[in-house]
Amino acid sequence: MSSPGTPSKDAAWFSARLLSWFSKAQRDLPWRRTRDPYAIWVSEIMLQQTQVATVIDYFKRWMRLFPTVKALAGANEDAVLHAWQGLGYYSRARNLRRGAQEVVQHYGGAVPSEVSALLSLPGIGRYSAGAISSIAFDQPTPIVDGNVIRLLCRFFGLAGDPTRAPLKNEIWRLAEQLIPPKKARDFNQALMEMGATCCTPKQPLCAKCPLAARCRAHQTNAVTRFPQLPARSKVSHERHVALLAEKKGAFLLEQQPTHAPRWAGLWQFPHGKVAPKQAPLSVALALARAAQLQISKPERRISLKHTITRYRIALEAFHCRVSTSAKGEKPMDRSLRWVRPEELLRYALPAPHAKIARALLLASDKAGA
Ligand code: ADE
Repeated sequence: MSSPGTPSKDAAWFSARLLSWFSKAQRDLPWRRTRDPYAIWVSEIMLQQTQVATVIDYFKRWMRLFPTVKALAGANEDAVLHAWQGLGYYSRARNLRRGAQEVVQHYGGAVPSEVSALLSLPGIGRYSAGAISSIAFDQPTPIVDGNVIRLLCRFFGLAGDPTRAPLKNEIWRLAEQLIPPKKARDFNQALMEMGATCCTPKQPLCAKCPLAARCRAHQTNAVTRFPQLPARSKVSHERHVALLAEKKGAFLLEQQPTHAPRWAGLWQFPHGKVAPKQAPLSVALALARAAQLQISKPERRISLKHTITRYRIALEAFHCRVSTSAKGEKPMDRSLRWVRPEELLRYALPAPHAKIARALLLASDKAGA
């Protein structure tokens, strides 16, 4: 079997083997027990940047909280972000809600089956549109994600960078040509499943692979040399400070503006980046000044590490007490709240701030015990 050009006999061999394997080896996942396009849509968006094992519980909870497009469209944004808390990349949750509102407005609440209509919804790109249209509606639309790229590059021995033209287009073309008639739903899921569980990045299970007999990379003993992905961008290290400003047992939270580059719309303790050579304490003091708080000297209370894509963040949280008689305090606007420890986790907080909130809750439980 060679590329370009996929003789239909070989395509038939490939799909028959893959489908037979999938019927036996597929995992029982909650979104595979439904054909509800809304549920498939939710699962595919969650799965974009997050592992299957993590998504399962989030998906089940989400479907309990927002069981229909209408329920999601009518939910308030805070509740939606709260249900997403811990999954990261929060624009995915905001786009899902906005997408649901558009589906209610333009399609009477029924998720459309055509790729062109799906592509017009926020947060839905070529991959998600193909996944929803094939998995929910059995349309012969291709999907290409990291798993599919790896599998096809190995099987066909495709050299070059699969994230760019011309190879990227070639892979989409192959993914479309290989779909067997009337089997798009199972075939696309089988491709992904094979990439996720058998044709894995490291130590693929070639001995168990039903496609190994005709796999170019396997035949030439070069499996781990495909796909030929570009080198990853370097990891950046950042230092951040959070201010745990306490007044009468409550802590100050502020809501990030909706256009913030990170954690837009989420709540967090006042928070700033530490410049090279800057002392973290001076950032804590600057945060208090910006909020016009009169405070005791901030004390370092919690240190933690957090990773977001290529950023490694070392976060130090400084605790201080706020003078209750202070006159100069900034008038409270809607983006600032004093919140008691037992209420903190009701807010949609980014993962590192949720960790701090849990530590404060534990400390207040102990103090009260
Ligand atoms: N990754 C992306 N979509 C998936 C799906 N439907 N099942 C399992 N893993 C996936």
